Parts: sequence; C-alpha cells; structure tokens
Amino acid sequence: MSKKKAGENTRLVHSGRKVMGKADDLVNPPVERASTILFSKAEDLYARKSGQRYYGRAGTASQDALKAAIADLENAAGVVLTPSGLSACTLALQAVLKPGDHLLITDNVYGPTRHFCDEVLTRNRIEVEYFDPRLGDALQKLLRENTRAIFLESPGSLSMEISDLPAIAKLAKARGITTLIDNTWGAGWFLKPLDLGIDYSIEAATKYHTGHSDVLMGAIAARDKAMAAQMQHYAYLTGNAVSPDDAYLTLRGMRTMGVRMDHQQQSALTIAKWLNEREEVVQVLHPALPEHPDHALWKRDFTGAAGLFSIILKPAPPEKVHAFVNSLSLFGIGFSWGGFESLVIHCDPQIRRTAHPWQAEGPLVRFSIGLEDTNDLIADLENALTALA
Ligand SMILES: Cc1ncc(COP(=O)(O)O)c(C=O)c1O
Repeated sequence: MSKKKAGENTRLVHSGRKVMGKADDLVNPPVERASTILFSKAEDLYARKSGQRYYGRAGTASQDALKAAIADLENAAGVVLTPSGLSACTLALQAVLKPGDHLLITDNVYGPTRHFCDEVLTRNRIEVEYFDPRLGDALQKLLRENTRAIFLESPGSLSMEISDLPAIAKLAKARGITTLIDNTWGAGWFLKPLDLGIDYSIEAATKYHTGHSDVLMGAIAARDKAMAAQMQHYAYLTGNAVSPDDAYLTLRGMRTMGVRMDHQQQSALTIAKWLNEREEVVQVLHPALPEHPDHALWKRDFTGAAGLFSIILKPAPPEKVHAFVNSLSLFGIGFSWGGFESLVIHCDPQIRRTAHPWQAEGPLVRFSIGLEDTNDLIADLENALTALA
C-alpha cells in the first residue's frame, strides 16, 4: 500500500523503519552510538558526499529514523531534532532572527520561551512584541517594516486560546515574514500547521511523542526544503545534537502515540464535561467544548483535542487551591504533560501577560489526563473538590 494512502496510525507504525542500514531484519532501528565515523579513504574525509555520514553530531540512523517519522507525521520537508522542547523553540527563533529584527510573539506563549525572548533576544537587539492570541487578521496592524517572524502557540498550554493560523500565515506570507508555532498540544496528530501555511512546526516531543515522562526531546519541522536546510545548517553551526538513545525512545513512543492521544482525548473530554457541571468551577478551558470562545476555530483546523486542559475555579485563597491539588491521589503534582499518567498543577504563579491582561475570575488549575480509567479520575476529582468547600 502506498504510504500516502495509509491511515495515520499505519504511518506512525511504519515511518522511519527504512532508515535502518544493515539491521533491516529488526522491527526497531537499533541505537547507533557514535562520535567518530570512520572513512575508508583519505580522499573521502572532506568530500562530503551526499548521504555519507561524517561525524556523530550530525546524527546516525537513530536520529535519522526519528526525523523521518516526525517529517511524515507533520507533512514536513525536513526535521531538526534538539535536546528539549524549549531548545527547539530557542534554536528556531535564533535561526530566523538577526539584530534589528522585530518579533511578534503570542502573549500566551510557554513561560520559558517568553523568558528567552525577554532576556536573550532583546540582548541581541531584537525587538520582542507580544500580541493577543485572539487577534487574527488584526495582527496586520502590528506588522512593521522590520517584522521578521511571528511565533505562535495554539492553544496556549495554560489558557487554551486558539489563534487563527491560516489568517496569520496568509498575512505573513504576503510580507515575507517567517511563521513558527509551538505545536506541542496538537503534536502533529491533531494539528498539522504546515498544511495551514505555517513555516515551522515546533514540538516538545518530550510530551506526547515519547509519552512516558522519561525523555526530553524537541523537534522543528519545516514546510519546504530550503527552510529545512536553513534550520539544519544553523543547528549544525551551533553544535546542536541529541543522544541516539533518546531518539530511539522517542520513536518507540511514537508507535503508540495515536492510540494514546485518541484515548486521552476521550477521557479528557468526559472529565471536562463533568467539571463543567460542577458548582466549584467557573469555566472549563477546553477548545472542544462548544462554550469555548475559540471552538469554531478549533473545529475548523484541528482533527481532535489533546488530553491537556484547564479550569478556572471560583475565587479561592491559595491555601484552598493547594488543599484541592494535594487531595488528588491519582494525579501527580509536577511540570510537563502528555505522559501515560495524569498530572495537575495550579498555574497562577506562572501566568505572565503584557499585551492583554489576564482577567480570570478565579485560580487556574491545569490537568494532563493520562491513561487511567476515566471513572477513577472523576471519583478522585469529586473527592478532592470537597477540599474547596
Ligand atoms: C507548550 C510547551 N512548549 C515547550 C515546552 C518545553 O519542553 P521541554 O520540557 O521538552 O523543554 C513545554 C514544557 O512543558 C511546553 O509546555
């Protein structure tokens, strides 16, 4: 069957398995560990023949297999791997920006990406301007002569606003501005930004790709070959490299990513609907709920919803919110998300807004729904909500 005709889960199972060299009788590509790669002749050392590997930092079959699988998932022309999701965001921004450029970046961006822009990009004389994620076409008004890139995150991983990606891609393209998105929530499974005209889709593969909360990995998927080459060149210049063991584990996780994400979607939606009926909850921030302000955009551009969503509780002091979180026995308290186990965090201490003030009625709590039985998670939540009384 041709790969293009195969279903998405079939592609996840088969992608990247042809990059195996001598070990193509194994189901999984072996881990190839190397710094030095040997050449048989002195004449070949500097020849850089196409397809000839020359040094471990540029990757071996382990990294190549993962890149091929992510490229297939994202419909990308090429992929650069980085050691974490954050380094994927920072490397991509540095690759496309230079001193004197203006960057437009969504106000709901992941906090550490924001800190990087504020502390490192500004030091390099790049103007960083935050915009309301719901601006859509009106973003046009913020474009300047020197606007070089627009960085999005949709939905925002705490507050869940969805941006109008095709509209933003269109206005950027007309002005030769590069568009980048942190696509960790959609993960290439529920959202394919490159198909919507975005130039670079960036992921913390740490989350759903690896799926087991034990690996850090980042990926930058590029829309066309020239963009992929630009990113690859910058990554090599800056000494970027990822371990073959981590690449192996990430690809292993990807084989089950589709079924995990589909299951987590259903469970999270059931829990979100249940929470929506609770009197302790002012609002459920989940784009697949019809009440969500960006539901129509989500429905148009996404094929599903990840297991990560938030709630706004009725106003309550921090001690009560802590008591609620501490009372949950099936949800771990910890950063990150997308693993097989459920997690919870209270988020207000990490929310930063400068373009549009954060105006929630009460505290924001975020859940990453794992693979536990949904009824058990609901029973756990029901019990913990009594701590808010
Ligand atoms: C939306 C988003 N982007 C990027 C990252 C960074 O990923 P990593 O932890 O792999 O650096 C995170 C981590 O939580 C995230 O939530």
